[in-house]
Amino acid sequence: MSKSDVEEEQHEELRRRKLEEALEVKSLRRIISAYLNYPDAAEDDVKRYERSFARLPPAHKAFDPPIDMSQEIDICQHQNLENFPDYNILAGERNACSCQSASTSGRVALLKSDEASCGEGSNITCRSPDGSTINEEVTVLHVNGSDTGSCSARLQCEQNLDEASGNNIKTANDQSAMSSVVDSNGNVSSSPPDWLDPSFQLHVPLVDVDKVRCIIRNIVRDWAAEGQRERDQCYKPILEELEIQFSVRQKDCPPACLVPGAGLGRLALEISCLGFVSQGNEFSYYMMICSSFILNQTQTVGEWTIYPWIHSNCNSLSDSDQLRPVSIPDIFPASAGITDGFSMCGGDFVEVYSDPSQVGVWDAVVTCFFIDTAHNIVEYIEIISRILKDGGVWINLGPLLYHFADVYGQEDEMSIELSLEDVRRVAFHYGFQLEKEKTIETTYTTNPRSMMQNRYYTAFWTMRKKTVATEQQQQQIT
Ligand SMILES: C[S@@+](CC[C@H](N)C(=O)[O-])C[C@H]1O[C@@H](n2cnc3c(N)ncnc32)[C@H](O)[C@@H]1O
Repeated sequence: MSKSDVEEEQHEELRRRKLEEALEVKSLRRIISAYLNYPDAAEDDVKRYERSFARLPPAHKAFDPPIDMSQEIDICQHQNLENFPDYNILAGERNACSCQSASTSGRVALLKSDEASCGEGSNITCRSPDGSTINEEVTVLHVNGSDTGSCSARLQCEQNLDEASGNNIKTANDQSAMSSVVDSNGNVSSSPPDWLDPSFQLHVPLVDVDKVRCIIRNIVRDWAAEGQRERDQCYKPILEELEIQFSVRQKDCPPACLVPGAGLGRLALEISCLGFVSQGNEFSYYMMICSSFILNQTQTVGEWTIYPWIHSNCNSLSDSDQLRPVSIPDIFPASAGITDGFSMCGGDFVEVYSDPSQVGVWDAVVTCFFIDTAHNIVEYIEIISRILKDGGVWINLGPLLYHFADVYGQEDEMSIELSLEDVRRVAFHYGFQLEKEKTIETTYTTNPRSMMQNRYYTAFWTMRKKTVATEQQQQQIT
C-alpha cells in the first residue's frame, strides 16, 4: 500500500468518526431536549384538559374536577394568562407536575464518559480508571452505539425507533463525542456545549417526550418505595437465585455478573450489593442519563418528588391517586453497600460483548425483561454463552414480547420471534443446560392503583453453560 493510500485511508477513517460523533451529538441533543421539553409538554396537556373543560355545558361544570377549573374557563380565553389572578392556582399545580424540571434546570447528570476499556484479557476491566470505590460515583462507561430510547416504549409506549449513530464499538474515551457541537454545515467543533442553554434546546416531537414519561415510570419501578412490589416480583427471584448459585463469595475475588439491558440500574446495583462485580449494560441514552443522575447525583433518600401518574387520565380510581407524589430515590445508592467495580456500560449489547476480549469473562449473566429486545434472539443467546465462563450461569426473567415484532412501516426490520420452547432449544444448542425453570407473574412499570394492570407470566430460568468436560462426556454418551 502506498503512502498516499494509507493517508487516504486514515483520512476516510477520521471522516467516518467525525460523522459518527456528529450523529451521536445530534441524537443526544434531541434526547436532552426531550427531557427539557417535558414541562412544556405537561403544560400543553393541561391546556388541552382546560379546552375540553371549557366546552362542557354549564350544568356539567358544577362537578368537581381535580383542579378547580371553574376559573379556568375564562383563563383559557384570556390572552394574558400570567396576569390573571387565579392563574397561579393552576401554576402551582403545574410546578408540582413538572417537578422534573427542577432536575432539568441544572441538575441532570450528563453521562460521564470516563475512559475505560471493556474487558481486556480475561479480566473485567470495565471499571473506572482509578478503580473507584464503593462510595464514589458509579462508573458510566460509554460505548458508541445507536439509541432507540426503547425500553418501556416497547412495553408501555409507542414504538418509535430513533436510529442515531453509527455502530462502531469505541471503548475509549468518548468525551469528544459528548462535547462536540455540530454546526449547521455538519461540522463538528469540540468546544463543550452548554446542554441546558435554551438556544441549544430543540423542540422535539411529542413521541420523544413520551419516552421521558416512560422513563419516569421506570424510575418508580427501580427507585421508589412504590416500586418495591414490582421489584420483589422481578428482581428478588434473580437475587435469591444468585445467592444460591454463588453461596460462597470471596470478597477479594468477587464473581462477575453482567446485566444486559439494565434500564435504570437498580438490579445491577442490588447485585453489586450482594458482593458481585456487577456491570449494567444499556444502550438507551434516555435510560443512561436518568440512571447516571440517580446513581451519581442524588444526595439523600427521598431527595426528589415526582408525579409519575399525572399524565394518564385513564383508569384512575380517584383524583388523588392520579396526583399522588412519589419520593425518589428510596435508597441512597452511594451508601447502599456496592461492591468495588460496579459500572454501567453504555452501548449495544451485541456490539460491546461480541468483542473477543469478552470471551469467557463472566461468572453470571442476568437478563431481566431483556432477551426479547433482540433483532435476533439467537445472536443474544450465542453471545451470552460465549461471554460466560465454563460452568457460568445465565439467569433470565421476562416475557417474549419481541420488540421488533409488529414494527409497522419498517418491514425491513429484522425480527426473529421464537417461542419459549424454541428459545430453550437454541440455548441447549449453545451449550446450556437447564437447572431451574418456572413461571413468575409480574407487572412492568405498572401503576399499582390503576384500573388497568397488564400482567406478564414471565419465564424464569437458570441455565448453566456446560464445561468442556461435561460437553465431551455427553457427546460420548450420544
Ligand atoms: C424492557 S427494558 C428492561 C429494563 C430492566 N432490565 C428492567 O427490568 O427494568 C429493556 C432494556 O434493554 C435496553 N436494550 C434494548 N436493546 C438493547 C441492546 N441491544 N443493548 C443494550 N441494551 C438494550 C433498553 O434500552 C431497555 O432499557
